[in-house]
Amino acid sequence: AQSCKIGPSILNSDLSQLGAECKRMLDCGADYLHLDVMDGHFVPNITFGHPVVECLRKELGKEPFFDLHMMVSKPEQWVKPMAVAGANQYTFHLEATNSPGPLIKDIRENCMKVGLAIKPGTTVEDLAPWANQIDMALVMTVEPGFGGQKFMSDMMPKVQWLRTQFPSLDIEVDGGVGPDTIHKCAEAGANMIVSGSAVMKSDDPRSVINLLRNACVE
Ligand code: DX5
Ligand code: ZN
Repeated sequence: AQSCKIGPSILNSDLSQLGAECKRMLDCGADYLHLDVMDGHFVPNITFGHPVVECLRKELGKEPFFDLHMMVSKPEQWVKPMAVAGANQYTFHLEATNSPGPLIKDIRENCMKVGLAIKPGTTVEDLAPWANQIDMALVMTVEPGFGGQKFMSDMMPKVQWLRTQFPSLDIEVDGGVGPDTIHKCAEAGANMIVSGSAVMKSDDPRSVINLLRNACVE
């Protein structure tokens, strides 16, 4: 397996201390931050939007990479605001748009990397036509909406297939990933690892992050 990057999801952190929680993760060796944006419509939960991302960018400085996981019904609407707020990658859901092509173009024109996410019920064949135009595919390993759910190992064939077809594509897994499930992800070929509760709720996040990273190179 190849080396991979670890992006803590701050959804299950103390959201009243968001800046400090992000810093804590970066201090513990996080490679990037996975920021879960939910609009209460695409998923049955609300988190935060571009004003919060803008504050985080100011608080954390230029360096940290922000991967915005856009669980929203109108991904077209937030490209510009998120770019201005300081997002590095804009990961939208295939299920949320009828025209991925123009959206991908718009994200690029706003100088962000492009991520394309699929829910567990969406096939990898639906994503494939776009794979050559994106930087990262996100294979959801839970139904999006909440942290702390159980990892769906039956999503691994999607990761495996994508890895075979598109060797240089970044492939991210998100949902229920932790020390018990990382090996399946690594073996399937994921190289961007989102981990929420397993990292956030640990007494020793640094060890968990290291463990996840090392699992990918064994
Ligand atoms: C779920 C989010 C995930 C989630 C991951 O809708 O997209 O990023 O916060 O949290 P865990 O690792 O706890 O499943
Ligand atoms: Zn996410």
